[in-house]
Amino acid sequence: MISIVNIQGLSMGAKFLLVLVVVATVSSNCRVQGALDRGFYDDSCPPFEVIVSGTVQSFLDRDPSVAPGLLRMLFHDAFVGGLDGSPLLNSSGGSDPPERLATPNLSLHGFDLIDAIKSKLEGICPGIVSCADILATAARDAITLTNGPFWRVKFGRRDGRSSNFNEANHLPSPFEDANGLLAKFAAKGFTAEEMVLLQGGGHSIGVGHCPLIASRLSNPDPTLDPSYAAQLRPICSANANAALPNDPVTPPLLDNQYFANVQARKGLFTSDQELLFDGRTKPAIDKYAASSSAFARDFSKAIQKLSELGVLTGSQGSVRKICAIAN
Ligand code: HEM
Repeated sequence: MISIVNIQGLSMGAKFLLVLVVVATVSSNCRVQGALDRGFYDDSCPPFEVIVSGTVQSFLDRDPSVAPGLLRMLFHDAFVGGLDGSPLLNSSGGSDPPERLATPNLSLHGFDLIDAIKSKLEGICPGIVSCADILATAARDAITLTNGPFWRVKFGRRDGRSSNFNEANHLPSPFEDANGLLAKFAAKGFTAEEMVLLQGGGHSIGVGHCPLIASRLSNPDPTLDPSYAAQLRPICSANANAALPNDPVTPPLLDNQYFANVQARKGLFTSDQELLFDGRTKPAIDKYAASSSAFARDFSKAIQKLSELGVLTGSQGSVRKICAIAN
C-alpha cells in the first residue's frame, strides 16, 4: 500500500529518516534487476547447492585433481568476458574455433563434473540454473571441501551465447614478466595485491607441465633455485610432458605456501618467480607468506570479485540446457 505523506511540515531530521525508511522498504521488497543474489534459487531450485556440493564431493573422492581443474577453469572463464560458461561451449557460434580450443585452455579439465551437475539439475528444475553459476559454485565447493578457504558465491549469472577464442589466447602466459601480468590484471580492475593473491592461491595447488619450464631448466635460470632445478630436471628428462606440482610442499592444499616458495626462488613458472623481483608485487609476496589467515581472508575477497566480474544477468544471455551447447 502506498500512503501519501505531506512532508512539508517535517523537520530535516524527520525527512531524512523518512527517506531512509522508504529506501530500506523498497530495497527489501524488490530484487534489484541484474544483481547477483545469494537467494536467487531459493524458490526456483532449492536443492541447487546440495546437488552441487554432493556431486563435487563424489568426484573429489575419485579424483582430487578436480579441485585445481575447476579453479583454473573459473579463472579462464571469468577473465575472458566474465564468468559466463564460455569455455564450456564446444562451438563459438561464429567462424572462430571455440574458446575451449585456445592454447591456454587445452589443459583445462573438469568438464564432466559440470555436465554431471547440469544433468541432475535439469532433471529437477529444468532451464533454471546457469552453467556459469554451476561453475562458480562447484569451484568454490571443490576448494573448500579440500580444506581450502571458503568464499561466498552469489547467484543469478546467465550463460553466454558465444566464446572469444582470440581473447582466451591472450590469457596471462607463464613466460610473462611482471609488467605484462600487471597490465592484464589492471585492465580487469585488479590491484597488484589482488593479482598476487589470485595467482598465489591458484598456484598453491594443481600442476604445470614440463614444456612450460623446459627453457628455465635447459639454460639455467638464475631466478630459479639451483637445487629445485636439479630436482625437476630428471623428471622432465624422463618424460618431457610430465606434470609437476605447482607447490611441492603442500601440493593438494590451497594455502599460503606459494608465497614462501616464491621467496625461496621455487616458483614454477617465470610468471610466478617474477613477482618476487618487482616492487609492485613483492610486498604482497612477503605479506601473505607471513600470514595464512590474512591470505585466506583476502584470497576469498579477490576470488569472489573475480567470479562477479562483468557477468551477464537479468535478461542477458540465456540459461543453457546443455553446458557445451549455446541456446
Ligand atoms: C597470473 C597469471 C597466471 C598464469 C600465467 C597462469 C598460468 C598457468 C599455467 C601455464 C598453468 C599450468 C597448465 C598446465 O601445464 O596444464 C597453470 C595452472 C594452474 N593455474 Fe594458473 N596462471 C595464472 C593465474 C592463475 C589464477 C589467477 C588462478 C586461479 C585463481 C590460477 C589457477 C591455476 C590452477 C588451479 C592451476 C593448476 C591446474 C591443474 O592442476 O589442472 N592461475 N596456470
